[in-house]
Amino acid sequence: IITKLLLEHNVRATINQILSEEIVQLLGLEYNVEIEIKKKEASEEYDFVADQVSAREEDKVLRAPIVTFLGHVDHGKTSLLDCIRKTKVAEGEVGGITQHIGAHKVETNGKHVVFLDTPGHEAFTAMRARGANVTDVVVLVVAADDGVMPQTEEAINHAKAANVPIIVAINKIDKPSANTLRVKQQLSNLDLIPEEWSGKTPFVETSAITGAGIDTLFELLWLESEILELKAIPKNPARGVVLEAHLSEGRGVVANVIIQDGTLHQGDIILCGRTYGRARLLIDDKGKEIKETGPASPVSISDFSDIPEAGDKFYVVSDIQKAREIALEKRNKDRETSLAKHQHITLDNLYSMI
Ligand code: GTP
Ligand code: MG
Repeated sequence: IITKLLLEHNVRATINQILSEEIVQLLGLEYNVEIEIKKKEASEEYDFVADQVSAREEDKVLRAPIVTFLGHVDHGKTSLLDCIRKTKVAEGEVGGITQHIGAHKVETNGKHVVFLDTPGHEAFTAMRARGANVTDVVVLVVAADDGVMPQTEEAINHAKAANVPIIVAINKIDKPSANTLRVKQQLSNLDLIPEEWSGKTPFVETSAITGAGIDTLFELLWLESEILELKAIPKNPARGVVLEAHLSEGRGVVANVIIQDGTLHQGDIILCGRTYGRARLLIDDKGKEIKETGPASPVSISDFSDIPEAGDKFYVVSDIQKAREIALEKRNKDRETSLAKHQHITLDNLYSMI
C-alpha cells in the first residue's frame, strides 16, 4: 500500500527499496504512527561476516595499545612522537624513508605500541563522531613551562567523554622555566591526580629534546594496555577503521587503515563504508610491502572501488558480490540522506525528492 502511495506521488519505489531514515520518519508522520529507528550493530549489519568470526576466549591474544597524543598547541605532541619514532624506529628503516600512513607501530623488547599520527583533537572527535573509537589510551601532553591551557582542558574533556584512560606527559622539562609541580597541582584540580599523590593518573616527565622520560612513557603505555587487557583474535577476518584515504597515481584508491581485530591477507575482499574492493597491495608503516598483517597494525591498502572516508569501518568479507551490493546500497542511502539534508523537507516536497 505504501509503494502504491509513493507511486501516486510519482515515486518509482520497488517493493524492496531502501528508504532513508528521514523519509521513513516523514511517512510515519503522514500515517500518524510513531517510528522508532533502531541502529544496527556493525556485526549485525554485516551478518554474513559474523558467521566467520570467532569470539572464543582461547583464541584471544594481547594486542598493542593504540595511542593518541592530545594537548594544547605547541606543547610538543609532534616532537614527542618524532622523538619516540626516531629513537625506536628510524634505525631499522630501509633508507630511512617512512611512508606516511597516519600511524606508527613502535617496538621495544618485543612490546609494541601503535601511535596515531593524527594528533589534535579535531581528528580525535571527528573519528568518535563517526563511531570509530580507535584510541585505547590518550597521552595528555602539557608543557612544563606553560602549564594547563584551554586546549589542555578540552583534551581532558574529550578523553573523558570517550572513556579513554589518560597518561600525562609533562613535557619540556629541559627548559629552565619548567615548573612540573605547578602542572601537577593544576591537573589535580581537574581531577587528574598523580599516583605519587595517591591519585590514579600515571604521570611522566619528558623532554622531546633530550629524550628524557621517553622510555618511561613507553613502559607506562604498555602497563596501561595490560590493565585494559586489550585483546584481539588474529585468526579472525580483519576488521578496522580508515584513518585516511586518497587516490594515488599508479595504485588507485589507497586507504590507510588500522586493523583492530583479525588478520588481513593480500587478496582479501574488503567492504568499507560505501566502497569495496580487494586488498591487492599491502604496505606497512615502514613502507614495506607485506603479505599479511595482524591486530593493532597500521597498513596502507589498495585498491577500492571508491575513496572511503576517515572513520569508515572496514570488514573482510567472503563474497565480493555481496560486498558490492552492500556498498551500493549504502551509497544510495547516503545520497538520499544528503539530498534530504540539502532540502528543507516538508510533506509537500517529500515525494518529489526520491
Ligand atoms: P601543534 O601540533 O601545533 O598543536 O603543536 P605540538 O604540540 O605538536 O608541538 P610541537 O611538537 O610542534 O612543538 C612545538 C615547539 O616546541 C617546537 O618548536 C619544538 O621544538 C618545541 N618542543 C617540543 N618539545 C620540547 C621539549 O621537550 N623541550 C623543548 N625545549 N622544546 C620542545
Ligand atoms: Mg603537532
